[in-house]
Amino acid sequence: MAELIVALDVQTRDEAVAKINEIGDAVGFYKIGLELFTAEGPDVVKAVKDLGKKVFLDLKFHDIPRTVERAVKSGGKLGVDLMTIHSVGGKAMIRAAADAAAEFGAAGPKILAVTVLTSLDQTDLEDVGILGRTPAEQVVAMARFATESGAHGLVCSPKEVGSLSSQLPAGTLFVTPGVRPQGSAVGDQKRVSSPADAVRDGATHLVVGRPILAAPDPVAAASAILEEMRGAV
Ligand code: C5P
Repeated sequence: MAELIVALDVQTRDEAVAKINEIGDAVGFYKIGLELFTAEGPDVVKAVKDLGKKVFLDLKFHDIPRTVERAVKSGGKLGVDLMTIHSVGGKAMIRAAADAAAEFGAAGPKILAVTVLTSLDQTDLEDVGILGRTPAEQVVAMARFATESGAHGLVCSPKEVGSLSSQLPAGTLFVTPGVRPQGSAVGDQKRVSSPADAVRDGATHLVVGRPILAAPDPVAAASAILEEMRGAV
């Protein structure tokens, strides 16, 4: 069964803790991204873990292998469950991240690779020297490269997950933002899928922010998404 991760896109630790308490037992996994981590640092990770929740630390590391290795170890010590790296950091960097995660054993962090940011189009790729490949082709190439280099999974659009999951080894994690249940506002997301479609296409984790955080009843919103995910299996 795929897991639901709520994106804690709030500005303070207190807001984060209040949201988690409001949502209660319905959700067991939360994503901490650049905004919240830059504001509150590791304390916010500890606070979420202290509430008994799993943490997806989405800081998209991209640096020399030694630095990324040490950052992954810092995440492992905090008890982080999922972490992101940029696959363009190269084979040695991805391997260093995976090896650092492995030191924490089976319960240690799993490394997710970002392939091509969904904000980039063909022209953006050409600007950074990626010529002769469409963004979709680049996603597949980087996904293979990242998983062959040790990444446990990928962050990808729910529109890509069907084709990627059929081309990559069983057991690869597919974490998809851009998920919208029926009737919920799309916001600034351009290419969205329903929770059921994302699960059917092979997503192992769905990241949902505003449809839960901004709902008048976040518990009901999360429960409806979980129900839709269960119905897809
Ligand atoms: O509110 P919403 O459900 O759109 O939140 C989605 C979360 O996933 C946000 O934290 C956003 O930064 C993140 N994300 C995304 N699209 C990507 C990568 C990450 O929406 N391609």
